[in-house]
Amino acid sequence: MVAVPTVSKRLRSVGAPGGNVLLEMFQRRPGAIALGRGDPDLPAPPHVLAAAHEAIAKGLTRYTPVRGLLDLRQAIAEKLRRENGIVADPQTDVLVTTGTQEAVFLTFYALLDPGDEVLLPDPYYNAYAPMIGYAGGVLVPVPTRPERGFRLDPDEVERRITPRTRAVMVVTPNNPSGAVYDPDALRSVAAIAERHGLFVVSDELYEALIYRGRAFSVASLPGMRDRTITINGFSKTYSMTGWRVGYLVASAAVVGQMLTLRHALTICAPTVSQHAAMAALRGPQDILRERLVIFAARREFVLRHLKAHGISCVPPDGAFYVLVDIRASGMTSEQFAITLLERENVFLYPGSYFGREAEGFVRVSLVLPEDVLGEGLDRMRRVVHP
Ligand SMILES: Cc1ncc(COP(=O)(O)O)c(C=O)c1O
Repeated sequence: MVAVPTVSKRLRSVGAPGGNVLLEMFQRRPGAIALGRGDPDLPAPPHVLAAAHEAIAKGLTRYTPVRGLLDLRQAIAEKLRRENGIVADPQTDVLVTTGTQEAVFLTFYALLDPGDEVLLPDPYYNAYAPMIGYAGGVLVPVPTRPERGFRLDPDEVERRITPRTRAVMVVTPNNPSGAVYDPDALRSVAAIAERHGLFVVSDELYEALIYRGRAFSVASLPGMRDRTITINGFSKTYSMTGWRVGYLVASAAVVGQMLTLRHALTICAPTVSQHAAMAALRGPQDILRERLVIFAARREFVLRHLKAHGISCVPPDGAFYVLVDIRASGMTSEQFAITLLERENVFLYPGSYFGREAEGFVRVSLVLPEDVLGEGLDRMRRVVHP
């Protein structure tokens, strides 16, 4: 009998992200405390839920245009002008995607030819690596250091530019480090991109969650609009992770070239979710302030708790993650995460899953109420200082 064929070389060479193994271990352990997930526990706002119900009741459940509902693109363009200083034509420059994840995938696929390099601050969101791999690109890590709060040093970016460099990525606030990049550093990155003829990819998914510093969009800088792909979504800001809506904003030419691929992937973002996303943008925004206050209180709680336990960390300026230093345990971050799960029934991701620079750290997410966070940290202490 002829052997069953295997999957493609491309699939095998990129491989499965390591995080899945731990996640599967966690899912086999009911009752474990999940300090690891990037999924906010706060509910989506009521007007978002109402808009989804209304869309269903009206039968608005068929395909939308590939670019997304025009009304939603208009709401996105208004938001970008108002909050980010980005001018975007909703007809041509905005693409609604199935989660931010698809926007990132489309971007790498659209920008990279095989062998093209992407400069990416390390530590980084672990899904970027396989996405760059599937696009045939090469991930070039730009180290950011715990001693500097994992902030980006533009000189480190420029030093790594080669004739194959195609794009530099900025993610602020950052997952997993919580770093918020200084506007001057972002201006320098923009200048480097202009000097070397590069694209900038700016993932701004956590922009509403800033405790210190401020949001700043590279695409708002003079001359940067057409060389920047700005990526954003609804998952973290409005607790809409399962709704799968995100978007990207780029020049009309780049967006136009993405449409065939975008159609091939998912045709359009879920229609009901697009109506819900429109309500999120057009509805009351004071909800964001309230949510920020809750995450800020949890951040303070975790920092206090860690200090009391004699565990250090890099206090985040944004997003809802804290990189906790577990070097005192004498274990690698992966050994630590496995031991913590097996011994104390607490799940989190090791720093090694986010590149090289967060080895020695684990990522704690602030997506749980304080009593559960406290219990998780108490159990963690027993593994850091046995
Ligand atoms: C930096 C970053 N970009 C993109 C995503 C994907 O988000 P979405 O749920 O909008 O697809 C995540 C999810 O954690 C993320 O952290």
